[in-house]
Amino acid sequence: MEKLLEVKNLSVTFQTLQGEVQAVRDVSFAIKKGTVTAIVGESGCGKSVTSKSIMGLVKKPGVVSKDSKILFQGENIQEYTKNQWEDYRGQKCSICFQDALTALNPTMTIGKQIMEKILVHKKVSKKEAWNEAVKVLEKVGIPNPELRMKQYPHEFSGGMRQRVMIGIAVTLNPALLIADEPTTALDVTVQADILDMMKEIQKEHHMSIILITHDLGIVANFATDILVMYAGKIVERGSAYDIFYHPAHPYTKALLRAVPRLDMNGEELETIEGAPPNMAHPPKGCPFANRCKMSRDICNTAFPKEISLGEGHEVCCWLQEEEK
Ligand SMILES: Nc1ncnc2c1ncn2[C@@H]1O[C@H](COP(=O)(O)OP(=O)(O)OP(=O)(O)O)[C@@H](O)[C@H]1O
Ligand SMILES: [Mg+2]
Repeated sequence: MEKLLEVKNLSVTFQTLQGEVQAVRDVSFAIKKGTVTAIVGESGCGKSVTSKSIMGLVKKPGVVSKDSKILFQGENIQEYTKNQWEDYRGQKCSICFQDALTALNPTMTIGKQIMEKILVHKKVSKKEAWNEAVKVLEKVGIPNPELRMKQYPHEFSGGMRQRVMIGIAVTLNPALLIADEPTTALDVTVQADILDMMKEIQKEHHMSIILITHDLGIVANFATDILVMYAGKIVERGSAYDIFYHPAHPYTKALLRAVPRLDMNGEELETIEGAPPNMAHPPKGCPFANRCKMSRDICNTAFPKEISLGEGHEVCCWLQEEEK
């Protein structure tokens, strides 16, 4: 299948008073056309910095290392001209964030905000832009779209606002949508409805989605591929089937045990004890070793190599190395 995006050896650091924070450490992955990839991991593991890197939005004190490469449709985005950047960020690749209230302009009606995006990128009349914007609201499941066009962000509920933001992000049918925790602040049922809606749009337009979340539970019916991140590294990757039915990394297994299930019968959910390492001083071994019930001496020696467990299923864990 055609590769839409390739991230190669991405490393991002932040200069802070505590030292150099290594937010993303030599991460490589590819996104195929028309697929949904979830990036999953605890707070601070580098999910948002990865997504910002793809959008070219890492700002000082952040530094993307020189040998990092991001290719979109085979082109190195770091070599884009100003016009290419506008085209890329405006149309080809779109991002939406967790907090719609801060992302939307509070002083402008929703309709105007969507129309603005259309008018900047397309040669259409205001009337045509209005009609298109109404269609966008319909597409993301907003009732009474004509009326809603004239309202301001604060007049929408949290879930509806999130839908509007996704609508703005997909207005120009981007090839890639990055959704960074788009439903985290919402009720479980509202979350599920919004993810269903996103999936519909994804299928209809054969779009690729990168969904960023700390909740493995919500990606089960959504993602085709999953990247599990820990302490700035991808520690396991595979199809959703691989990750849910044959998880190999102790961290992935721990994340899965932390997902509520229907068959729990009052059983308590497990939490992962301890905290991720301080990324200003990451350990030289496996960063999960100090929280891992299976860890051995070897785990503290170096970061484990990526081992293939089958097509597309890879894990970085010393225990797998020993099993070989
Ligand atoms: N502007 C910044 N200045 C300093 N450090 C930063 C900055 N932005 C991110 N970091 C650090 O980079 C690391 C990765 O952050 P990132 O925002 O990518 O985490 P995340 O996985 O998205 O977490 P969350 O689930 O909380 O959103 C963290 O240690 C964070 O403190
Ligand atoms: Mg984040």
